[in-house]
Amino acid sequence: MTAPSEDTSLLRHVVLDFMQMDSFAKDPFVVVRGEGVRVTDATGKTYIDGLSGVFVVALGHGNQRVIRAITEQMQRLSFAPPLHGTNDRALELAQLLFQFAPPKYNTVKFLSGGSEATEAAMKLTKQYQQQSGHPRRYKFIAKYGAYHGATAGALSATGGWERKSVFEPLVPGFIHVHPPYCYRCPYDKTYPSCGITCARIVERTIESEDPETVAGVIMEPISISSAGFVVPPREFFAILRAATAKHGINLIFDEIICGFGRLGETFGAVYYGVSPEIIACGKGMSSGYAPLAAILIADHVQEAFYGATEERKEFHHGHTYGGNPLACAAGVAVLSQIMEENLVANARTLGAYLRGHLEEIAERYPIIGDVRGAGLLQGVEFVKDRANREPFPASVKPGKLVERLAKERGLLARTGNEFLAFAPPLVSTKADIDDICAITDECLAIAQKQLQS
Ligand SMILES: Cc1ncc(COP(=O)(O)O)c(C=O)c1O
Repeated sequence: MTAPSEDTSLLRHVVLDFMQMDSFAKDPFVVVRGEGVRVTDATGKTYIDGLSGVFVVALGHGNQRVIRAITEQMQRLSFAPPLHGTNDRALELAQLLFQFAPPKYNTVKFLSGGSEATEAAMKLTKQYQQQSGHPRRYKFIAKYGAYHGATAGALSATGGWERKSVFEPLVPGFIHVHPPYCYRCPYDKTYPSCGITCARIVERTIESEDPETVAGVIMEPISISSAGFVVPPREFFAILRAATAKHGINLIFDEIICGFGRLGETFGAVYYGVSPEIIACGKGMSSGYAPLAAILIADHVQEAFYGATEERKEFHHGHTYGGNPLACAAGVAVLSQIMEENLVANARTLGAYLRGHLEEIAERYPIIGDVRGAGLLQGVEFVKDRANREPFPASVKPGKLVERLAKERGLLARTGNEFLAFAPPLVSTKADIDDICAITDECLAIAQKQLQS
């Protein structure tokens, strides 16, 4: 019998994310094993996981501490319904999270994935506004190019048409603004003389919409998706925070990628020095050992949800697997290790090391126009002409070319058509970064020749 990983007719019938299964079946990628920062596919080929799965596997693969924690929990209790109560492991994780998060966040709702978290953040915001005397507030402002998830509300906030136009009309009330993308400023300005126009425009959008109708603004601290890799300037979120606070609008940070040390700080909110009302987080929270996500709620927002039972102020939202004991056991083990081993600081120092490598590489390859990122999320943008930032024609897709070359050489990365980025596990070493950069260098030499011939 054909092995499942080689059975083309089987592979065509397993629907993967945003993927043409006909092409996938002809060139499948089936992962069978992981150890540390490396994974092995069904053909026996090993890859450096330069992307932590997909911004998830912060502690690397095969982490025995996490595996032990889940196994022990499974022996004791595998499921407890959040409709009737909670479980001791969920409470332990809550306690740890409040130590790890900035001081104002002392309330958590556990969920199982990023889309659940962004949906919950927006629903909580709507309910908060209603029971805080602002029943007309239902609109959300988000960015073009952002990705907030695949479910209807999260997709409505998402800014790229590629993943949503087929499902439109979606949830009403979502307004999009152009992203704070300094390398290709949507307003044709230059940082810092621009006066941070991108943030001022969000402020003006709020005012133009009638602030009494705007419930929240949702943004990723740093966004990275197939639609682009955007690292906002430092001032962007300070201006946005002031504008949203002035009008009583909730600021929601979608930290599904940026949270749990990825940017070299505990959360992107800390990296940018602002306090949103809600932090949505997931991915690295369980390092991929179980589906786990959460929203962290600022104290002043949570206050609006306490009251007598008959007032019905409780958050009207829930999922069967929220706070699942196995997922929370994974979360406790992961967060304990992140804190005990100071992996946030490791992301900062190792990120600087990766950035230095990429900057040195960029000097040798004129097809690299920009190097950007924060902590252990670093990448480059490709250009046809570095001097005037002219991009390659849309049909060329240099990022995809380098992704293919890297995969052939045993390196996994995140790419868009015009960028290449790395987000290796927080437990990576300098030697791992050296390996990632050596392969990248080799790929760029080939890509540069091909693209400029
Ligand atoms: C910034 C961001 N928000 C939300 C999501 C949705 O998360 P999930 O795929 O776990 O539903 C993602 C997924 O990649 C993401 O990157």
